[in-house]
Amino acid sequence: MTREIKTIIHEFGSVSELKPEERALAHRAEKAAEKAYAPYSRFKVGASVLLKNGEIVDGNNQENAAYPSGICAERVAISYAAANFPDLPIQTIAIAALNKEELTREPVSPCGFCRQVMIETELKQDSPMRIILVGKGKVQVIESARQLLPLYFDGSIFSTG
Ligand code: THU
Repeated sequence: MTREIKTIIHEFGSVSELKPEERALAHRAEKAAEKAYAPYSRFKVGASVLLKNGEIVDGNNQENAAYPSGICAERVAISYAAANFPDLPIQTIAIAALNKEELTREPVSPCGFCRQVMIETELKQDSPMRIILVGKGKVQVIESARQLLPLYFDGSIFSTG
């Protein structure tokens, strides 16, 4: 048997085509990127997370001279939300990146590590996280992290009892 897995991506030419609430979140991610600590890659990423009560929290990449000790913007934002608002589901995350202080033309797509963390959040909150990937010349909207990582590691495969 062969299985085919489909990913649905809604594409737009720019953030101006998004609904006002999502456009605001996209701009906020761009602003959050400006505050990133990325002296090694000089690639600044921002992630803004919209919680169920309307609150927004931001994150950005935090690099380290010991490279693997650095952390991506998405995991900073998601972990901040989880630590401070553990009972509020994350509805949407917007991600934007600056290359030489300019918003990238193409949207930046989260790394596999961050996708797995997004999926844990979806499983924990039992609702999908909408993902907005912001580029100057293209914006992509994905309705769930599972669309981005269909063959994710599912912790229910092991038993701890
Ligand atoms: N980075 C993020 O923060 N998010 C992504 O989605 C992709 C990569 C960061 C990690 C590192 O600080 C820099 O971008 C270059 O890889």
